[in-house]
Order: sequence, then C-alpha cells, then structure tokens
Amino acid sequence: MIAATPPMGWNSWNTFGPNIDEGLILETADAMVASGLRDAGYKYLVIDDAWMAPERVGGRLMPDPDRFAMGIAALAAEVHDLGLLFGIYSCAGTHTCEGFPASYGYEDVDARTFAEWGVDFLKYDYCYAIAGADPVQLYRRMGQALRQTDREILYSVCEWGAHKPWEWAASVGAHMWRTTEDILDTWESVSRIGFDLQADLHPYAGPGHWNDPDMLVVGMGGEGHVGRGGMTDAEYRSHFSQWCLLASPLMIGCDVRSMSDSTKNLLLDPGLIAINQDPLGRQAYRVGVAKDHGPAETWARPLADGAWAVGLFNMGDEDGRLMSVGWEDLGLRLDQPAGVENITTGEAAESLVGSYATNVDSHDVNVLRVTPEL
Ligand code: GAL
Repeated sequence: MIAATPPMGWNSWNTFGPNIDEGLILETADAMVASGLRDAGYKYLVIDDAWMAPERVGGRLMPDPDRFAMGIAALAAEVHDLGLLFGIYSCAGTHTCEGFPASYGYEDVDARTFAEWGVDFLKYDYCYAIAGADPVQLYRRMGQALRQTDREILYSVCEWGAHKPWEWAASVGAHMWRTTEDILDTWESVSRIGFDLQADLHPYAGPGHWNDPDMLVVGMGGEGHVGRGGMTDAEYRSHFSQWCLLASPLMIGCDVRSMSDSTKNLLLDPGLIAINQDPLGRQAYRVGVAKDHGPAETWARPLADGAWAVGLFNMGDEDGRLMSVGWEDLGLRLDQPAGVENITTGEAAESLVGSYATNVDSHDVNVLRVTPEL
C-alpha cells in the first residue's frame, strides 16, 4: 500500500522557493543519506514549483534546460541509486503558482511523462484553476491519470484546504491533502496551522490517506536563514512533536546540507518518529478538561500496541506550567497501573495510577508514551 504510514521526505519549497537546480537536488540527496535521514525513514525527495521550462515541447512538460540539464529521468535515477524516492510538482490549473506550464487539459500525458521519468510522488497544486471548475473533478482527473500509469505514484493534493479536501480527496486517489494555507517559520503560523486548524480533522486520517498541515519549518531559523522569522528550539520541538502526534506527513523544509545538531537530533528523534509512523495510523485529538485552544493543550492518540501517545503543550507565555494528563482522558480506569515514558526528557516511571504531571516551559512540550501494564 502506498503511504501505509505518513510519507516522510524533503521538499525544496520552504527554503529554496523557485531557486532550484539539479546540483542542489543531488547535494540534498547525498546529505539525506549522510545525515541518517534516509535511514530514519525520510525517503521522498520532492522538487517543488519552478523545475519546468517556460513552454511545453511537443505537448510535453520539459525541465528547464539550464537548471536541469541532465533531464528529470537521469536525475530521478541518481536519486533512486541512493535508495531514495523521487517526487515532482505540477498544478491543476493552466499554470503553476510561479507561472510555469501546468497540467490542466494535459493530465494523461503529464502522468505518463512522470511515470516514464521514474517519478514516485506528485504534489498537485491549485493555482490558475480555470474559473468555475470543480476542484473535485480536476483532482479526480489527475488521480485517474496517475492510476492508469504502470507506476505507483503517491498523489499529494494541495488546494490549501479550501474545499474541505478531507471529505473527498481520498476518493479521488489522494494519499495526502493539504489542510491549510502555507506554513511560515513562526510560532503564530505553527500554532494556527498545526493546532487550531487540526482539531476536528482526526476522523479523516488513516493508513493510505493523511491530513497534511504542510511541510516542516524545523531548522529554517538557523544561520543563513533568509527572512520569515524563525523559531526557538522549544517551538521547533513543539512543531515537530505535534506533526508526529498528528500522523502528518513529515516533509523536511530546511537545508539538510547544513543542519545544526539540534535540528538533526529533533528530525531524527526515534521516539517521535515511531509515534508518527505507528501502524494504527490514528491522528491525535485534543483531550482533557479544556478540549479547546488555550494556554495548556493536551493532545493524545492511541497506538497499535495499546499504549497512548500524549503531548502536553504549553502554548502560553509562562515557564514551568504544571501540566497533567488523567487516565480518564485516555479511556483508562483510574486505578489502572501504567508505565510512562517521557520521550522529551528521557525520564521513565512505572506503575503510575490516575494521572501524570510535569512542568513544561513556554511554547514547549513534553511527549509521553503511556503504556497500561497487564
Ligand atoms: C503554493 C503551495 C506551496 C508551494 C508553492 C509553489 O500554492 O501551497 O507549498 O508549492 O505553491 O509555488
């Protein structure tokens, strides 16, 4: 099954925008291997907007001849040789958001071209959609065209959550769909996109089809980062932890050729990745007294082995907030003994009953694995 667990990889857009070429892609592929990202599960290397030449040639999309001189098939082959999968981008309208030719009216030929090139992942955007077009039809056309190729191609729908894609995208063959506008490298953006806008979406996610609150901004605020803000280590930890709890696709957006140690350690955290990739595929939801946006938010999801993953998020400005999760929030009897592994701090406790409490600093998180004891 494609995307039995949330897709993991890297996408060029967040850091590089339209300034991409084959050299960058090959260096990124090497860095994904050398840093251990590939072996941790980050398999898809996706080229976003602006890879195309300004015009079709013989009715087919072509890569920009200067920036992608080797051609996409050869580039995809090099990426495959490193044990990675290769992704590309087009748009359901006449042009991409950057004004390059897109797939409206060319769905079949483009899907065949992508398959011939060895593409494994298509991100399909929504700029320049023709007036009055039905988005469901537009996305169905490309979904059918992809299925008619002889290649397994992961289909990533990107219409920014504008037409409630969680209600229809899986039925047109999508494996993931954006639920929101573009993410920015700011706490304000992350707390809106990853928390407020996800609260009601958990029923729609599951193996093979995932809500996508956009790509990761972890590590973008480091040295050499251009514009957009940047976040603290605690805020990046909350962002990554929440994307793991949400069973969100984990598409890295920073420059992986020059990650700091704290960025690398976070993106490679085995406890968090295991939660994200849990085979049950349940997306976390808010639990606890407030069940609402507030300075203290508790999110939880059941895991395949009967444990629960819990995120205690201090969304407020005060450090050291006392936060807790009660067994009743996890559907456990209050006298049920459970082991608690605090994945964020590395602490562990056995045979707790009733609740677990800990102090969490401003904009930080503690992620727990609560395992009922037999
Ligand atoms: C936006 C999309 C971004 C990026 C950009 C490229 O519509 O949401 O993720 O793909 O287009 O132009």
